[in-house]
Amino acid sequence: MERYIINGGNELFGDVEISGMKNAALPILIASILTGEKCIIENLPSISDVRKSLDILKAMGAQVSFRSESCLELDTQNVEGGISPYDLVSKMRGSTYLIGAELARFGKAKVGWPGGCDFGVRPIDQHIKGFEALGAKITVDNENGYIYADAPNGLHGNSIYFDVVSVGATINVMIAAVMAKGKTVIDNAAREPHIVDLANFFNTCGAKITGAGTSVIKIQGVEKLHGCTYTIIPDMIEAGTFMAAVAATGGKINVRGIIPKHMESVSAKLEEMGMRIEEHDDYITIEKVKPLKHIQIKTLPYPGFPTDMHPQLSAALCCAEGTSIVTEGVWENRFRYVEELRKMGADIEVDGVSAKIKGVPNLVGSEVQAVDLRGGAAMIIAGLCAKGQTEITNIMTIERGYDDIVGKFTRLGADIKKAEY
Ligand code: EPU
Repeated sequence: MERYIINGGNELFGDVEISGMKNAALPILIASILTGEKCIIENLPSISDVRKSLDILKAMGAQVSFRSESCLELDTQNVEGGISPYDLVSKMRGSTYLIGAELARFGKAKVGWPGGCDFGVRPIDQHIKGFEALGAKITVDNENGYIYADAPNGLHGNSIYFDVVSVGATINVMIAAVMAKGKTVIDNAAREPHIVDLANFFNTCGAKITGAGTSVIKIQGVEKLHGCTYTIIPDMIEAGTFMAAVAATGGKINVRGIIPKHMESVSAKLEEMGMRIEEHDDYITIEKVKPLKHIQIKTLPYPGFPTDMHPQLSAALCCAEGTSIVTEGVWENRFRYVEELRKMGADIEVDGVSAKIKGVPNLVGSEVQAVDLRGGAAMIIAGLCAKGQTEITNIMTIERGYDDIVGKFTRLGADIKKAEY
């Protein structure tokens, strides 16, 4: 069994280069199915969720070859629908996008029920509402765990209002609508940078999408898309994770290759905690200049504070002065990692969707588990600032979404290694 071993206490100094964004890469890889041609995807992160997505695409008939570690040539000409392997699809959330992609290209879809991190119920009712508005009939086979979609008369543009702001539903309905006949208007759409990235990818392939990044996205269906060369945006959550780590450990780092605008809500909270932050064109310098102060955070859809950053900030707040309150506004249960932080001496009480974090003088190294992707990143941050040695198990869940996290922290001066036993 693989685990991370961390000897805490080192401050972090130097430069870290941020990889491409997981949550943009997954939909773009699947969206390439619509082109039926060759796409060159640059700045692809080397993470297991990308590798799983490529295995799914290969099993469906795609030709995949790497020009370099982060540059992929993907040809979807011979892809067939309805044959994605259940065991891979059911391990990740991004596989839901296959429903939109198969519907768009083949007029029907058969996809296994998607997996992903466990934050309580993860419904797809808004995805289904969108597909139905475009003319598809959806059947969920709960017994065998499959979702079937069928649009024998093709997909037709329509107006869709989402009842909740959903990244996944916005992406999936965009994918389905891009080649539908006529115009689709998605209202109450998610505004995350990865939605804009997907729209930019599609527009580079010949789609007609406007409004991505606002809550109203307009899509004029086109008959055909063509292949393209596209560079994925940097991962704001990976960048935020390194920023939170410096808040916890102390030191000064340059977080490079990012879009500082995407970091605004995270930077604002870190500044409130007392961190010194300087924004440059494509990097941020972050330095710990005084002890951390307590803050209040509420997670919200973009441009609010991202839910995918709350566990990492909670880890940093464990040793801040005073009592911080972290309220989760997106998922019903994202606090499973708190139990692990408690094993390290954190003083955290969870009440419903809020956690009260009372600062303690220091955390103590311990054996803990990565309960999910960002909860696992929080354990690394806690381990880096704790006294003594921390061992983190179940690290596959961290490697689903972080590219070379051990190498990147090591180059910043952390004592972290991967061991097998
Ligand atoms: N929701 C519904 N109905 C739906 C879809 C969502 O009620 O049909 C609810 C969810 O239950 C949740 C809220 O809407 O309360 C937001 O869910 P959303 O659909 O936005 O989440 P997602 O698309 O399943 C993506 C990311 C998550 C990230 C969320 C929120 C991917 C593959 N996953 O999930 O990323 O937390 O958006 O920003 O893009 C991560 O990277 O660690 C991660 C979990």
